[in-house]
Amino acid sequence: MMRFRVLLLSSLAATSHAIINGRASCPDYSQYSTQTHQPLSTGKYQLSYMRPDPACRKYVVPEVEAAINDMKGRVKDPDLFRLFENAFPNTLDTTISWKGFASNSTTEELTFITTGDIVAMWLRDSANQMRSYKSLLKANTSTDSLAGLFRGAINLQARYIIQNPYCNSFQAPPESGLPPQHNGAADTDAVSPSYSSSFVFECKYELDSISAFLQLSSDYYEKTQDAAFFGKFKWIQAVQTILNVAQGLLVGTYADDGSVNTSPYTFQRTTTAGTETLSNSGIGNPVKSGTGLVRSAFRPSDDATIYQLFIPANMQFSSYLSKCAAIMKPLNADLANKMTTLANSVKNGINKYGKVNHPTFGQIYAYEIDGFGSSNLMDDANVPSLLSAPILDFLDASDKTYQNTRKFVLSTWNPYYMHGPVINGTGGPHVGPGRAWPMSVITELLTSSDDSEIISGLHTLVSSTDGLGLIHESVNTFDASRWTRQWFSWANGLFGEMLLGLKDRKPQLLATSFQ
Ligand SMILES: *[C@@H]1O[C@H](CO)[C@@H](O)[C@H](O)[C@H]1NC(C)=O
Ligand SMILES: *[C@@H]1O[C@H](CO)[C@@H](O)[C@H](O)[C@H]1NC(C)=O
Ligand SMILES: *[C@@H]1O[C@H](CO)[C@@H](O)[C@H](O)[C@H]1NC(C)=O
Repeated sequence: MMRFRVLLLSSLAATSHAIINGRASCPDYSQYSTQTHQPLSTGKYQLSYMRPDPACRKYVVPEVEAAINDMKGRVKDPDLFRLFENAFPNTLDTTISWKGFASNSTTEELTFITTGDIVAMWLRDSANQMRSYKSLLKANTSTDSLAGLFRGAINLQARYIIQNPYCNSFQAPPESGLPPQHNGAADTDAVSPSYSSSFVFECKYELDSISAFLQLSSDYYEKTQDAAFFGKFKWIQAVQTILNVAQGLLVGTYADDGSVNTSPYTFQRTTTAGTETLSNSGIGNPVKSGTGLVRSAFRPSDDATIYQLFIPANMQFSSYLSKCAAIMKPLNADLANKMTTLANSVKNGINKYGKVNHPTFGQIYAYEIDGFGSSNLMDDANVPSLLSAPILDFLDASDKTYQNTRKFVLSTWNPYYMHGPVINGTGGPHVGPGRAWPMSVITELLTSSDDSEIISGLHTLVSSTDGLGLIHESVNTFDASRWTRQWFSWANGLFGEMLLGLKDRKPQLLATSFQ
């Protein structure tokens, strides 16, 4: 019954191409992505073909198909090309679960993008899933265009943020007819402010979630210069909401008179994992006021922070708040000034408090600090990470402190650096020690200009998919057959973005053979 309803609604929404949602004969991609499909690639890794049958692809963008065809002539290694043709379109092929309009509007586009194996939209994942197509984005008023997909994602994220600004992951909009999913992991969650599980899938407050909205907005504006769009729907209200949230989280644990400030957000879960709940009755470890940095209760891995002044998300927030101030200026000059002021004070806070001296590497960025003098020196695979600072447009990769940090992150001094014969890279507490995340290897290549580092990383990526030809969440560093998440769209998109970027940056490397 429900399947029929979904099909009917989406065929009404569809125009020339667009969405083919949930056809009865289309396989469930969470199963499909665990099996190999012919034809295998002709290289020694014999990678599966993983694109769904054309009739089962959720969304088709001609520019993306053209980019895949173009790369076919450039990427010489058959296994590397196979990984690209599977991974790059994965978000469009499998995760655009619905595209339509807000119920009371004929112009407010909405795009519901799932993360992959979980039918919910993460602010962070969806912004980055769209970012993988940024280089192909251009102005286009057609709702069936890539630009239309971006606009729909921005509008839906704006709605989510206005409704539940502390939450990280959301249910399909009611207009889609898709039923809300039950999140068993959140059954015991006690969260303030409270939320409705018909709108929210999970409510972990992560500074990078609201920063992702600013990043997505800035990406769309940079490539389309479509300034008028931002004045039409709820964008200004969403940015105002973000500023209010950030102001509340500039405040530390204690007031000047010694009393304990009321935290704008608390979270507690019944769990055996220390990273899945917050200490001190849900407020987290104490944070000092006055650093200019914005607190984050959780990291982009959805694990709790140890110290809430989480530097990578503050980098991302400062960077895209500043870029979005330029969009805001003609719409609301006063708000634009507030954005610029806050972006600058966060940046000053990072420069003043976010750097520490390491005995081996010299001055490096800390992953987290508490403002009292304690810092957590590590990196995690999920973006924003310290390794990703240049792709957050926060600094240039030549920055001395960044280069020192990079050496630290890619060494065994980083407590979450995993190495072994299969893959070397950063992991994190989300899946635990012994497993490196291909995402961290991709980020290493995106921030590298060293040919041998790039070739070696490409080799690692192409040889560690267990024959499935998709990017997994994590891979055991000693056994490529032990991996997590068969369908993790963001990581696939990031791989596509990285390889496509090499076409311009280092075209000669696309001719490398790994046979
Ligand atoms: C559409 O409805 C929402 C709430 O359901 C409301 O906030 C919004 O202002 C409405 N938009 C228009 C254009 O009427
Ligand atoms: C806009 O996008 C539509 C749908 O993809 C496409 O048919 C059309 O050619 C595009 N227009 C331009 C000017 O690129
Ligand atoms: C990981 O690094 C070690 C040296 O530290 C090296 O021996 C090994 O081959 C590397 N593994 C991969 C997959 O590159």
